[in-house]
Amino acid sequence: MALETHQFDAVIVGGGGAGLRASLQLAEAGVKVAVLSKVFPTRSHTVAAQGGIAAALGNVAEDKWLWHMYDTIKGSDFLGDQDAIEFMCKNAAKAIIELEHFGMPFDRLDNGKIFQRPFGGMTKNFGETPISRTCAVADRTGHAMLHTLYQRNIQANTQFFVEWFALDLIRDAEGDVLGVIALEIETGSIHIMHAKTTLLATGGAGRIFQASTNAFINTGDGLGMAARAGLPLQDMEFWQFHPTGVLHAGVLITEGVRGEGGYLVNSEGERFMERYAPHAKDLASRDVIARASATEIKEGRGVGKNKDAVHLKLDHLGEEIINKRLPGIREIAKTFANVDPIHDPIPVVPTAHYMMGGIPTNLDGQVVIDNEQAVNGLYAVGECACVSVHGANRLGSNSLLDLVVFGKAAGNKMVVEIAQLKAHKPLPNNAADATLARIARLENAQGENMAEVGGAMRKTMQAHCGVFRFPDLLARGVGEIDAVTKRMQHITIKDKSQVFNTARVEALELDNLIEVAIATMHAANARTESRGAHAREDFGERDDKKWLKHSLFYKQNNRLTYKSVRLKPLTVESFEPKKRVY
Ligand code: FUM
Repeated sequence: MALETHQFDAVIVGGGGAGLRASLQLAEAGVKVAVLSKVFPTRSHTVAAQGGIAAALGNVAEDKWLWHMYDTIKGSDFLGDQDAIEFMCKNAAKAIIELEHFGMPFDRLDNGKIFQRPFGGMTKNFGETPISRTCAVADRTGHAMLHTLYQRNIQANTQFFVEWFALDLIRDAEGDVLGVIALEIETGSIHIMHAKTTLLATGGAGRIFQASTNAFINTGDGLGMAARAGLPLQDMEFWQFHPTGVLHAGVLITEGVRGEGGYLVNSEGERFMERYAPHAKDLASRDVIARASATEIKEGRGVGKNKDAVHLKLDHLGEEIINKRLPGIREIAKTFANVDPIHDPIPVVPTAHYMMGGIPTNLDGQVVIDNEQAVNGLYAVGECACVSVHGANRLGSNSLLDLVVFGKAAGNKMVVEIAQLKAHKPLPNNAADATLARIARLENAQGENMAEVGGAMRKTMQAHCGVFRFPDLLARGVGEIDAVTKRMQHITIKDKSQVFNTARVEALELDNLIEVAIATMHAANARTESRGAHAREDFGERDDKKWLKHSLFYKQNNRLTYKSVRLKPLTVESFEPKKRVY
């Protein structure tokens, strides 16, 4: 079948913050760049980021990028690569000023400087006291960032392919990446996007779980594409559960609430974080707080009819602060929890929020394989990538920072790679064969209903790979997710309804989600220690001797290998692993 081919210097898959920061760098350098997005770019999931973006600006009190670096390494439970963390924290202030100059409407202090609020794990002087380091636009920071970046891209002539879904990478015999195969959702037509460089910025995959703060579009598409192309997925056992998702709705209630002075209470009205993190309390790191809330619920001190939540109390902040700094939260609480937080606490539960793992990259955003060798032509940034600045547990407000710092770095490196290539490498004759065969399989199989297979995957992940992980559940989870993978080979999507194309998109998304779920389950079962967000009942302690290393999962034969953590920063002394207390 002859497919329409489009040629670009750079193809970016994903129109969220990471993709748009990279595309802006490319477009402003005069490069011919296309952004493919499943949704209109300003509806990408970055729009849902609430509380802010971290940078040691020191607008509220003295601050240093080295303190931010230390906090991030400690937050990562020492699994983060220290060179990447130094790069991110050192470049943070510049990234914020750049965004401000692009027109991002940050909140202001009375003296006109950018407003900053405290966030979990962010401290002064290597852990002394909480510090205000998170720059914010009320509780709609991601929204403001995404609109700012989109407008700048329009000005810079980035070409957008809206409601286009990238399906697979094109790799030639030498392993170089030459673009992607993509589906135009409206027409159902398949296209070849031929590029000198390709960047994956497809965001997270929180939809592998039943309860998630993630949008329905967060289906791990970049990870599925990478896995099918024979590339590894790194540190997939590490998933962040945000302590404050609205009970039964999953919608995020920002950590900014606790930054502004809100706190969690149990059914006895006790501010229980004082027991679990006596120093930082409600501003400890997310893994610590999620475990504390889950423990309170497990031990019968949950709130509500089924005692399956804890309360987030913020009425004491007063109407003025809530309306000024947390207006979106008030709306969300009213809509999804039926409470007005000016008067009543919000019922919240730890909810799947962020994937610390992803496609391994170097500091330039180039995708690397286990020997740190870059794959020619392929880049990844943002949540779908693992550079790794978040290690085993990300600090809140470091994700928006990650995507602008590494989005820009990747854009810069792509400009260089494009300049070095005189012409596009020729496409292999069979570039689209595997993709077309996959679509045909999905369309022609006469088996199980797709929704049931998706439901089984989400149920398995929720029950077997949650906040606390148990050996028997993990082992059974591996078997169950392997069985779901087999069922996926025989799903039926041809339901004769008028939504066939939507159903086809959902099936292709499910294909990607299952790649993420299987990598997560296998990597979690194999890591016999507790570190950051990976908390095992049978191995309760961190084990640096055996496990201070990154996992790499390969789809072929469900193979797991490991590589060292980069403990050496770029210019400063290493922070040696030590016990993590808050
Ligand atoms: O709580 C929040 O506002 C989320 C921020 C983040 O995940 O970085």
